[in-house]
Amino acid sequence: MKGIILAGGAGSRLYPLTQVASKQLQPVYDKPMVYYPLSTLIEGGIQEFCLISTPHDLPRFQQLLGDGTRWGISIEYREQARPEGIAQAFRIAASFIGTDSVSLILGDNIFYGGDVFQRAFSSFTGGASIFGYHVTDPERYGVVEFDSSGRAISIEEKPARPRSNYAVPGLYLYDNEVVSIAAALKPSARRELEITDVNLEYLRRGSLRVHRLGRGFAWLDAGTSSSLHDASAYVQTIEKRQGIKVGCPEESAFRRGFLPLERLEALITTLPRCEYRDYLAGVVEEERRQQETR
Ligand code: DAU
Repeated sequence: MKGIILAGGAGSRLYPLTQVASKQLQPVYDKPMVYYPLSTLIEGGIQEFCLISTPHDLPRFQQLLGDGTRWGISIEYREQARPEGIAQAFRIAASFIGTDSVSLILGDNIFYGGDVFQRAFSSFTGGASIFGYHVTDPERYGVVEFDSSGRAISIEEKPARPRSNYAVPGLYLYDNEVVSIAAALKPSARRELEITDVNLEYLRRGSLRVHRLGRGFAWLDAGTSSSLHDASAYVQTIEKRQGIKVGCPEESAFRRGFLPLERLEALITTLPRCEYRDYLAGVVEEERRQQETR
């Protein structure tokens, strides 16, 4: 399976911060926002990436992430000239997807906790897999309704009167059919190619699976100044308390087996002296200790 990170959009709700850098490059506590969705997909086992952003912001992402080689992954880049909808990503990245299945993650979605994603990735055999997360303000999102047996029966984009409290977060897994489904989509009333319409098509075909994200799982969206601040505070709390990092692509790639220990060690020597480097050095040290006791 391949992975797309969608990191475009105007970011107008974060003005004037977005005058300095695009939304997905803003700091979330101790790292750029895009590190979090990138790590989520790496942890899901994705090694080949395509990052989509605006023509203006794309060079900054390229500068930050490069071609991914140093982390044992590959990253291609594509431009989205105008923000014409999340589902446009599958048209833009059609040649990257080829005949493969694909996951899409929104560059401003931050997830933490549990292994439900990893299980969803490893159990994916076809169709579409999306997620449902209980929220207090479902009208801001795609909303999924379940029947009494827990089967998804409807999905609506930002409904005025939501049929449930289950919002659909910005992580989606699709088989290759998504390319032709996206190609055939018509723009919605707000003139966007809607990801909800893609999900509805899979629901119509009877091949949509919705995994519910339970208690103890955090889904943060960092699209406003206030939610950006909350996301930073949340990550800081976890990191300080547990002494682990959330959204650290180097560590994710290492743990997933994409980046061998020796290469991680070599990479650390290229980093400036800082807390991030010390953390990664700690990861290496712990691994060496464990190897000795094995
Ligand atoms: O966050 C999850 C929600 O994301 C879902 O529940 C909704 O079904 C889905 O439509 C989407 O809703 P939003 O209103 O949050 O979408 P927004 O337009 O804010 O875009 C989400 C991110 O994707 C944002 O960081 C910008 C980026 N984006 C968006 C569009 C429409 C692009 O890069 N290009 C685009 O064309």
